[in-house]
Amino acid sequence: MAHKIAIIPGDGIGAEVMNEAMKVLNVLENHYSLDMNYDVFDWNSDYYMKHQRMLPEDGLEKLKHYDAILFGAIGDNRVPDDVTVWELIMPIRKAFQQYVNFRPVKQLKGIESPLDNSHRGQIDFVIMRENSEGEYSDSGGLMFQNQEKEMAIQNSIFTKQGINNIAGFAFDYATKHHYSKVTSATKSNAITHTMKFWDREVGKIADAYRDIDYEKIYVDALAAKFVQQPEEFQVVLASNLFGDILSDLGSAVAGGLGISPSANINPSGAFPSMFEPVHGSAPDIAGKGSANPIAQVWSLALLLEHLGKEDLHDHILQAIEELLSDKTKVTKDIGGTASTSETGDELVKILRDN
Ligand code: NAI
Ligand code: MG
Repeated sequence: MAHKIAIIPGDGIGAEVMNEAMKVLNVLENHYSLDMNYDVFDWNSDYYMKHQRMLPEDGLEKLKHYDAILFGAIGDNRVPDDVTVWELIMPIRKAFQQYVNFRPVKQLKGIESPLDNSHRGQIDFVIMRENSEGEYSDSGGLMFQNQEKEMAIQNSIFTKQGINNIAGFAFDYATKHHYSKVTSATKSNAITHTMKFWDREVGKIADAYRDIDYEKIYVDALAAKFVQQPEEFQVVLASNLFGDILSDLGSAVAGGLGISPSANINPSGAFPSMFEPVHGSAPDIAGKGSANPIAQVWSLALLLEHLGKEDLHDHILQAIEELLSDKTKVTKDIGGTASTSETGDELVKILRDN
């Protein structure tokens, strides 16, 4: 049966790079017998300006019936960033229990890393970030407003279930993909309630996976190690905030935002998972035709892998690596001279000819 996916291009370069991902989708349908139906949803800042909301009242209900969601990026100076994030992205992640944010940190052949002269070996690891609770909760508020003693409180909420879910997923993933080590980011020396709880619960899960080495590293030291010895890592497990920061660092180390994909996964399969580039809508380059579409296309590859099409995932990654061997065919952010659509067309050509 055909898979059904929902496509949300979003704002700015989100829509531009999505165009290229859709070209790739078409070539897979025509030349690799991929059977896929998709619908495109215009839920972005224009939609907000018309309707005063980011998605219709039954938006989540509509999305629920798809096998997966391919998302571009959102953000526009007409709508506050916390509105676009909390009214569109967060509701999808939370309603569909996408408690895993998965980001491969892999230096592709042909991509330069700012660390190239200082480290040995290949940068190739994955980050598993808790995606539904922790430091990103809406609990807290301002107290003693407009007084000298005014203060703000933001609570972190860690549940046993939440920690067990993400840690269990990370160790299962390591086992399935033949990794031998999981590294947990912590800060239990300074954050004494939530992070000690994190350590305890992750430690219990680690005990159940005897074949996988487990290490915990304070997140500040871990950040330094991402730069000094990135080849040491295999699976990195982190809370919502630590994972957010580490994954942007990982992306920078492996070659930049233009080529970094991510997945928001609902492991039970009860609801759709969502695949999106790490980058945002990049208003500074929107409309210039210079956005790199690779992160979006790689996100599509992760979507296909999630739907059991590992072969198509591998074809896409091979095509990306082939493309990277010729600098005239990639965008400026990774040292090339091509436009967004030229890059997409070139990828399509490679996929068609392979
Ligand atoms: P950003 O990721 O949009 O841009 C950061 C820098 O990277 C910019 O200089 C941009 O030109 C460059 N860049 C990003 N993607 C690129 C690509 N594909 N090719 C070439 N260069 C690329 O992050 P920023 O500037 O912090 O945020 C801009 C807007 O995007 C804000 O409204 C923000 O809220 C939103 N945003 C949305 C996200 C999402 O939809 N999931 C994620 C991050 C930010
Ligand atoms: Mg981020």
